[in-house]
Amino acid sequence: MGRVEGKTAIITGAASGMGLAAVELFAREGANVVATDIVPGLPDAVAPLEGNIISVHHDVADSDSWDGVISSTLDAFGGVDVLINNAGIFVPKGVEEEDLDGWNRLLGINLTGVFLGTKAVLPHMKAAGGGSVVNCASIAAIVGGNGDGHGAAYSASKGAVRSFTKHCAQWHAAENIRFNSVHPGGVFTGMVSSMGFATREEATAAMGSTDTPLPPYMGMPIDIAYGYLYLASDESAFVTGIELVIDGGFISH
Ligand SMILES: NC(=O)c1ccc[n+]([C@@H]2O[C@H](COP(=O)([O-])OP(=O)(O)OC[C@H]3O[C@@H](n4cnc5c(N)ncnc54)[C@H](O)[C@@H]3O)[C@@H](O)[C@H]2O)c1
Repeated sequence: MGRVEGKTAIITGAASGMGLAAVELFAREGANVVATDIVPGLPDAVAPLEGNIISVHHDVADSDSWDGVISSTLDAFGGVDVLINNAGIFVPKGVEEEDLDGWNRLLGINLTGVFLGTKAVLPHMKAAGGGSVVNCASIAAIVGGNGDGHGAAYSASKGAVRSFTKHCAQWHAAENIRFNSVHPGGVFTGMVSSMGFATREEATAAMGSTDTPLPPYMGMPIDIAYGYLYLASDESAFVTGIELVIDGGFISH
């Protein structure tokens, strides 16, 4: 019996990094997985994985696109038990370099995407008598400095995801729908390699080892996927509104 046996989970941002690791892990643990992403490479990314997995092209910032994800999910699996709002982008611009278009674009994906996803699954989770929504925030929701990589809009988006999660946890607890946020520290994914680092070792030398006390000083996608799995599963049935920090000790200074 898998840890999420028989549950149907929508996982956004599933073509790479933490999302792709979560698709593989959830499918291995018995879930029906709806893997979504905006990039055309999504079907190829999930093709080698085993289990009940469908892939759906998706822009999390677009309300109509969420309608498509929900109807594909219901067609394939008949309901939705878990939503992992994982998709996100990072832009390393402070207030002086960021402009309004860039600010709105980032918030549209990282924050509005979480709102739209929540709105899309709520009626189905209510009808089913419960569910679990896991929102990917960041340590940038808690600390600044090296913890936010100098991303003004990014910090704002993740801070808002953190408080939005608590709002939902309070207002939907009576419906048995749980909401929790996950706060990764530095994790070697597409997001980090796009900053010009070819390997985890290179990225760690530049960003990890100074502030992260726990070896190997930078996480891997599976480290976060295990956090998602716990919060999606019935193992966390009495857990809502928490911030699960997975950062090798970065914010424990
Ligand atoms: N990597 C880190 O160090 C780190 C740290 C803290 C938080 N996070 C968060 O982790 C989450 C996953 O990121 P990752 O590190 O795996 O990066 P990643 O770039 O490997 O994966 C993010 C995925 O989101 C997808 N995406 C982007 N815009 C989208 C949109 N509009 N609609 C649908 N999909 C879209 C991308 O195509 C990509 O596949 C993000 O929310 C990110 O902010 C990452």
